[in-house]
Amino acid sequence: MKYSQEAGPIGVFDSGYGGLTILHGIRQMLPEYDYLYLGDNARAPYGSRSFDVVYQFTRQAVLKLFEMGCQLVILGCNTASAKALRSIQQNDLPGIDSRRRVLGVIRPTAEIIGHLTHSRHVGLLATEGTVRSESYNMEIQKLWPDVKVTGTACPLWVPIIENNEADSPGADYFVKKRIDHILRLDPDIDTLILGCTHYPILMPKILKYVPRGVQIVPQGEYVAESLQNYFRRHPEMEKLCTKNGTACYYTTENEEKFKENARIFLREDIKVRHIDLE
Ligand code: DGL
Repeated sequence: MKYSQEAGPIGVFDSGYGGLTILHGIRQMLPEYDYLYLGDNARAPYGSRSFDVVYQFTRQAVLKLFEMGCQLVILGCNTASAKALRSIQQNDLPGIDSRRRVLGVIRPTAEIIGHLTHSRHVGLLATEGTVRSESYNMEIQKLWPDVKVTGTACPLWVPIIENNEADSPGADYFVKKRIDHILRLDPDIDTLILGCTHYPILMPKILKYVPRGVQIVPQGEYVAESLQNYFRRHPEMEKLCTKNGTACYYTTENEEKFKENARIFLREDIKVRHIDLE
């Protein structure tokens, strides 16, 4: 298929709603661009799916965003960044259109982490798939070989958030449990990465149970900073991103359901359209 060579919106992909926290961070810093958000809600969560399935689903979404005119796509999903980004960059892009780019959310977080930790002990809270992939450990090791990364999966955090229970007293138990667990695994941790795009929604509870002296790293603002730097280094790509300050939202699930749940993440009303990926 031949894709348009004209400038277009920046695509932001997630398995569901979580990437909205990334899009929010990016729009705060770079409001002038146009954005096209795609949530594969019908097939979410991706967190416990195999490498191959996450790769196939993510590839379909990226191709759809290209078809819709995006020259640049950001995988605003840690699981997709961990399991599909490298294959798409290395195996797919050269054959599709070598000018187009797909970026993820793990590298920007890895780049900043060595500047934030003093103890050189970092914790990673993420989905099972992201923790198991060891992508954070590998990226951080490349850039900061003296930093030790300990990860733990928080499988119930995404369902708690998606069911609008993030503020409920029941959520406290599960948040405290995982934080206590990771700090038992490595008591010297002074920096905790929220390596899942949903987790910033649990921030008030996380702050409640994290001891003083341990800092929390949500990703939105670092991904935005990294994109800004990317545009400085790649003006040719910056020119291929249109600037009318708009955001359009697409979901593979029901539009009304997406609109309702998206309020948890954006706290604003949005227009949503359905789209099929298969
Ligand atoms: N957005 C995913 C991530 O950042 C979490 C949700 C899922 O498991 O699909 O890992």
